Amino acid sequence: MTTCFFDDAALAADLLRQGGLVAFPTETVYGLGADARNEQAVARIFAAKERPATNPLIVHLPERDPIELVAARVPDVAEKLMDAFFPGMLTLVLPRHPDLPASVSAGLPTVGVRVPELALAREFLQACGVPVAAPSANRSGRPSPTTWQAVATDLEGRIEGILQGPQARTGLESTVVDCTGDVPVLLRPGALSLEALQAVVPETRLPGDHDDLLQRSPGTRFRHYAPLGKVVFDPAEAQEKPIAWIGVSAPPHDLPVSFLQGCVGAEGYAYELYHFFRRCDSLGIKTIVCERVPDTGIGRALNDRLNRAAEARTTPA
Ligand code: TXA
Ligand code: MG
Repeated sequence: MTTCFFDDAALAADLLRQGGLVAFPTETVYGLGADARNEQAVARIFAAKERPATNPLIVHLPERDPIELVAARVPDVAEKLMDAFFPGMLTLVLPRHPDLPASVSAGLPTVGVRVPELALAREFLQACGVPVAAPSANRSGRPSPTTWQAVATDLEGRIEGILQGPQARTGLESTVVDCTGDVPVLLRPGALSLEALQAVVPETRLPGDHDDLLQRSPGTRFRHYAPLGKVVFDPAEAQEKPIAWIGVSAPPHDLPVSFLQGCVGAEGYAYELYHFFRRCDSLGIKTIVCERVPDTGIGRALNDRLNRAAEARTTPA
């Protein structure tokens, strides 16, 4: 299959309307889109990514109204969060509309819904004129793509099109919040902070021991991307060279670093991380020393991804 590269949102949208798979930019990461109502196209997303069929997709809309096209019911608390954060870096889990194929949600009775903020994303979604199911546009097991070039590396020849936009402004995925229960529950920490959510709905909480998190958020079960090199936090554990370092301060002066990425604050770190991991792989880096950041703001999501990258090689697939 030949993959077409577009800079025109309307042309890319035509391809999607015809049943094609088209990757598009958002402010978090690039998504791999298909018509959410076309069961065959949805099935092809799972095939192209080699994604487990039990991991649900997020449905994207150009604007909040009418969200009733995809959600069977919109609880008051979801209205509040949408007032504050749509469009943006928030995905809400709501009861799924019966017109959406169950395969979009991997059979769950719920659906994840997001309205991205990036103008090019909204222009594309508007031109599509259908709800667009889209996971991150990477092969399963690779970092989410923050550039169209990273999408091409993983998926060229497997999808119909790539809409070329800017490098993703945030660089980490959206925050996933379950709004089907009494209070909102954070299923995946992401670009939108817990503090911001709690400023609007103070009851918003982390999943507790009593939550069946795996059932509610299947994505947390899957092996996460780990770079080919070993990810460590303690420089003393950096044995094998070449060694890379990423963080917001400076590497220890006695660490023999071959590849270094200094970042401006946690936001700068989030922006660089996935791109940096991909470059470490292509450079053959054997050990990656990552600095941790305080667990506040986007730091919570950043530490989550760093921990998963460090743990992944010890977790069964
Ligand atoms: O920023 C993002 O969220 C990007 C852009 C493209 O929107 N998308 C993204 O999609 O990261 P994906 O598929 O890589 O991650 C979606 C996460 C998974 O952990 C999945 O399990 C969870 O959201 N999710 C989706 N629908 C769900 C549902 N109905 N119930 C629970 N979790 C859901
Ligand atoms: Mg993903």
